[in-house]
Amino acid sequence: MMGKATTLARKRTQPALDSAAVLGALPAAVVVVDGENVVVFVNGAAEQLFSSGASYLCGLPLTDLLPPDSPIFSLIAQAHDDALVVSEYGVVLDTPRTGHRTVTVQAVPINETPGCVLLSLHEQSIALKIGGQLASRNAARSVTAMAAMLAHEVKNPLSGIRGAAQLLEQTASEDDRVLTRLIVDEADRIVSLVDRMEVFSDKEPIDRGSVNIHQVLEHVRRIAENGFGRKVRFVESYDPSLPPVFGNRDQLIQVFLNLVKNASEAVPADNGEIVLTTAYQHGVRIAVPGTDTRRHLPLVVTIQDNGPGIPEDLRPHLFDAFVTTKPSGTGLGLALVAKIIGDHGGIVEFDSMPRRTIFRVMLPMVEEGDTRA
Ligand SMILES: Nc1ncnc2c1ncn2[C@@H]1O[C@H](COP(=O)(O)OP(=O)(O)O)[C@@H](O)[C@H]1O
Ligand SMILES: [Mg+2]
Repeated sequence: MMGKATTLARKRTQPALDSAAVLGALPAAVVVVDGENVVVFVNGAAEQLFSSGASYLCGLPLTDLLPPDSPIFSLIAQAHDDALVVSEYGVVLDTPRTGHRTVTVQAVPINETPGCVLLSLHEQSIALKIGGQLASRNAARSVTAMAAMLAHEVKNPLSGIRGAAQLLEQTASEDDRVLTRLIVDEADRIVSLVDRMEVFSDKEPIDRGSVNIHQVLEHVRRIAENGFGRKVRFVESYDPSLPPVFGNRDQLIQVFLNLVKNASEAVPADNGEIVLTTAYQHGVRIAVPGTDTRRHLPLVVTIQDNGPGIPEDLRPHLFDAFVTTKPSGTGLGLALVAKIIGDHGGIVEFDSMPRRTIFRVMLPMVEEGDTRA
């Protein structure tokens, strides 16, 4: 009886909604094109994006709105041909109507009207994440420059200082020898600090091959369970059919070790839990920097913890070097994660709220033509 009454009450207050109004209110820009790439529908956000009204936009070929080499055309073709939802991160729109913006585009085939493809262009949420991701690449770049500077401007003079101290030591009195030893030891300490930064310097292109990501995660879990994560409960949910990653095994171990270590340090002392998952996702691609190529990123690994979450003020700079909230933290863990994943052409992003922080790593699989570097 109660159930029925509430249903009735709900029915009475339900406003008359039509789907056009819902689409109109949607913050993402929605554009539908037909089989000839002619615009047949735009919502309010798309009108704003293209600074024009629906009556003008509908009927226009998409080539009048976007340059012919826009990746959006190949997205449409792919959605169309493969009957799949495909997404692309970091698509740059740079037209007189839109101005310069970076968006995430999803192309969705509309099954009910064959030939039609819906485009959804997000400027915010997901695109903000990609903003964070690109910021993580910039962060990695600045650390790389700094690592190179440290190697040249600090390490070389240090070896001169060290050598001079050793020369002095030969003729120094017993008392003074304490001082020359001090110079040598401190010089060595700085060198080892600088060496820690060396992982960031751009050396050769990384040596990549076919890597079983589950073996990587198993390895990381074993290290964690026997050390820093002894008290944590690990939950694994793996897709056993996942194809191999095109990557460097040692570097990927480093990535997931850093992420699992952070998660272990974040979880409560009692009932700490870390969930590791792997999955295959269709249709996410990202432009390979400096090329026209777009690489699919179908392999998704997530590391979720039930810690307090990432402090709000840290989030915009999370992947920068030396960002830490830990008394003896280095702030290099996530900077290295960003650098390695960037070198792999992948994406790392995070979602965080109390009791549920997720780091998501998207990686390329081995494709035809991938050879070991
Ligand atoms: N899973 C997480 N939950 C909460 N905060 C995190 C998590 N991972 C990273 N952080 C925050 O990001 C900061 C930077 O992490 P990282 O680069 O690994 O450096 P470090 O661990 O040395 O502090 C950490 O100090 C912490 O404040
Ligand atoms: Mg860390």
